[in-house]
Amino acid sequence: MAMAERDPVSGKNTTGHEWDGIKELNSPLPRWWVIVFYLTVAWAVGYWIAYPSWPTLHTYAKGVLGYTSRGEVAQDIAKAKLAQAGWMAKLKTATVEQINTNPELREYAMAGGAVAFRENCAPCHQQGGAGAYGFPRLAADRWIWGGALAQIQTTITHGSRWAADPETHRMDMPRFGDDKVLNEDQISKVADYVVALYKAPDTANTLPGKAIFAEHCVACHGEKGVGNTEVGAPSLKTAVWLYSGTKEGIMAQVHSPKMGVMPAWGAKLDEAVIKELTVYVHSLGGGR
Ligand code: HEC
Ligand code: HEC
Repeated sequence: MAMAERDPVSGKNTTGHEWDGIKELNSPLPRWWVIVFYLTVAWAVGYWIAYPSWPTLHTYAKGVLGYTSRGEVAQDIAKAKLAQAGWMAKLKTATVEQINTNPELREYAMAGGAVAFRENCAPCHQQGGAGAYGFPRLAADRWIWGGALAQIQTTITHGSRWAADPETHRMDMPRFGDDKVLNEDQISKVADYVVALYKAPDTANTLPGKAIFAEHCVACHGEKGVGNTEVGAPSLKTAVWLYSGTKEGIMAQVHSPKMGVMPAWGAKLDEAVIKELTVYVHSLGGGR
């Protein structure tokens, strides 16, 4: 039997194994390493028993805890739905003004409103309410039907000139050209006046179109063209136009007015979602 002895070069003991004069040093693994190794083995065995592990002939070993990742996802979804239902219930009972002044509710409404806007409104009003020809810019303080929370909520709920909704906004601008109320010359003059209202208010007063405007337009668009949200007549003293602010564009509108149609969302969207949209639209830049 070979004997363990001290190796004179490394100063370590040998195991006593020897092959052709080559002796094996006895350098065992560190104790801490061995302990950790056995702990991981024990952990793995425990894990096999507790959790789903290897496949069997028809199914798989389910593990004594009965855990499934699908089950976990389903639980998460159920929890999220519950949380959302709580928020939606709060939005339903609160007024838009209350939502807008409660930081927590407002944050929730803004997030939901942004999503609902992208899905339902951006096709016409564009991303962020930037607007397009015939579709009003909502990110501007120029309102056809009013920028107060309650007014925005009414517009979204009932729409504008939306035949199916009896409470929809309704006010049509007279067809001054088509119905021969004004001739081309008068239309040209009043258009000059409207252009000047915004671009050169000082000279506007001297223009012959002023009298035509006073007679035919002031009733809806107001003294000096500031507009009237009661009748949905937009301000004409503006850089933001629904259609066009050029003389040609204004003449076209006076001749044969285009009357924008906005769908009523009250029948399509949940009341709470409409409130979210109201708070979101109000925040876009022009809200009052
Ligand atoms: C099919 C196109 C279309 C869609 C979709 C649409 N709108 Fe409109 N919206 C319009 C038009 C056109 C007007 C202008 C109505 C008018 O001239 O009276 C308008 C007007 C408005 C106004 C009034 C603006 C003002 O100046 O008073 C608000 C607020 C508004 N929309 C919000 C929304 C919201 C919120 C949605 C999504 C739920 C939406 N709209 C979806 C076409 C649309
Ligand atoms: C009975 C009310 C009424 C009268 C009177 C009226 N308007 Fe209007 N006007 C409106 C309404 C409502 C709109 C909004 C149309 C829409 O929402 O599509 C409008 C829109 C306009 C626009 C388009 C603004 C834009 O942003 O593109 C112009 C320009 C305009 N009116 C000029 C006139 C002029 C000029 C007169 C007088 C000759 C006149 N209006 C008389 C109700 C009226």
